[in-house]
Amino acid sequence: MVQAAYKAARKLVRDFGEVENLQVSKKGPANFVSAADIRAEKILRSELQRARPTYGFLLEEGGVIEGQDTDQRWIVDPLDGTLNFLHGIPHFCISIGLEQGGEILCGVIYDPLRDELFWAERGTGAFFNDHRMRVSTRSRLDEAVFGTGIPSTGREGHDEYIPQLARITESIAGVRRTGSAALDLAYVAAGRFDGFWEPALKPWDYAAGLVIIREAGGYITDFNDRPVDYEQGDVMAANDRLHGELKALLATAKSD
Ligand code: IPD
Ligand code: CA
Ligand code: CA
Repeated sequence: MVQAAYKAARKLVRDFGEVENLQVSKKGPANFVSAADIRAEKILRSELQRARPTYGFLLEEGGVIEGQDTDQRWIVDPLDGTLNFLHGIPHFCISIGLEQGGEILCGVIYDPLRDELFWAERGTGAFFNDHRMRVSTRSRLDEAVFGTGIPSTGREGHDEYIPQLARITESIAGVRRTGSAALDLAYVAAGRFDGFWEPALKPWDYAAGLVIIREAGGYITDFNDRPVDYEQGDVMAANDRLHGELKALLATAKSD
């Protein structure tokens, strides 16, 4: 998984350099960026397939590909943070999860510009490059920083989101909207963020994050403390001390 991510990342980084040149062109970089996204996914698909020929796929761009082995599949976001990439903002990643019997067994999130690799395997722990990583130990909301994603107007979850943002903003030290949900989850696992929430994410946004956060000692659930549902995609994650507090904030935001 790591080798596949490194290979696709080399191409993404070259393409990101090109985006800067295209900002000034008449057509802008939009078509180029969607081609870069698809190119990265092709590399990931062929590398992962070469390593495990029988496994299936759930690809953001390519959809579901059934494997001979129906119990194992790769869940892949080749470029998380597309809007950042398109605007020349240097914050995006590749995210790969390995699902086995409906559970995520391994996850890799790679930020190619900072060369930061976040990865985990169930039962083995979570790692930042070569070092063990743990969620933060902060327990006070007024010292906490949470990442989030803002569903734009009209998108699923938008109406409930605005009161949530108001509730949480008034309770914690700071909210960050970075534009890459997968990296936000990696940052929770690394203790940079103390929590994260976003409604209506897709499985490829958080599959790798699920196992990485758990192995780093954190909690990742839906907004009601149940397992994240692939259809609904509401994701709330935090260190062990603040997960309950985040749940309470989201619940009271609803009733305001
Ligand atoms: C998006 C990013 C963003 C989140 C969106 C995702 P993409 O993924 O993770 O942070 O707020 O919900 O769709 O489109 O860049 O792969
Ligand atoms: Ca994504
Ligand atoms: Ca994507």
